[in-house]
Amino acid sequence: MATLQLQDILFSQGFGTRRVCAGLIQQGFVAVAGAICAQPATEFIADGSQFTVQGVDWQYYEKAYLMLHKPAGYECSQKPSTYPSIYTLLPAPIRQRGGGAAAGVQAVGRLDQDTTGLLVLSDDGKFIHRMSSPKHHVPKVYEVTTKHAVDDKQIQKLLAGVVLDDDPKAVRAATCVQTGLNQLSLTLTEGKYHQVKRMLAAVSNRVEGLHRSRIGGLRLPADLLPGQWCWLSETDLTSIHS
Ligand code: URA
Repeated sequence: MATLQLQDILFSQGFGTRRVCAGLIQQGFVAVAGAICAQPATEFIADGSQFTVQGVDWQYYEKAYLMLHKPAGYECSQKPSTYPSIYTLLPAPIRQRGGGAAAGVQAVGRLDQDTTGLLVLSDDGKFIHRMSSPKHHVPKVYEVTTKHAVDDKQIQKLLAGVVLDDDPKAVRAATCVQTGLNQLSLTLTEGKYHQVKRMLAAVSNRVEGLHRSRIGGLRLPADLLPGQWCWLSETDLTSIHS
């Protein structure tokens, strides 16, 4: 297994420039497997290594895969226009992986500012591309609260396909289940701009609340509260594709 200098391990995980990482180590702020290491060039096997920076525990990940329970009132952009960015909910080393900005951690399928629920983020470009590509049809499940009562006609239209203003090709819900008088559970396999809101408008209804509960086979865990994030396990990563 390849070894990496401790300063490179910290650098690759987003703790700052090499100089900043070396400084943290020299000042005694970094421990590996519980023992302080003050030599930036000391080599460790990176894979699976556990380290502590300024008292906070971290694990080395060559690529980061995580999920966030997005609260309302946050934008998915790194450079938001009006509301705070979802990236402010992530610790700085995650935001800064890969040098930050566009090369760093990105979301799979953005959510509107007022939408809540499951966001998957990664700095693995191939993974982001595969998950976001319209070719792969990864199903996404949305719990929708509507302004007007839902009726059978609306459900049939959503399943048959509705035309959105900018595209003559109809878009349809893969599944559409009424879960309350003003509630629907909708599965989409595409991700057009404001798609759920525009689909509901096309059947003369209106979205009052929108929550994403699932991407592929990955569900938002009940104990991950709004604003909280966690790493994705191997099982989570497999389940996304199922
Ligand atoms: N569709 C929408 O209209 N908004 C979202 O945030 C996600 C899907």
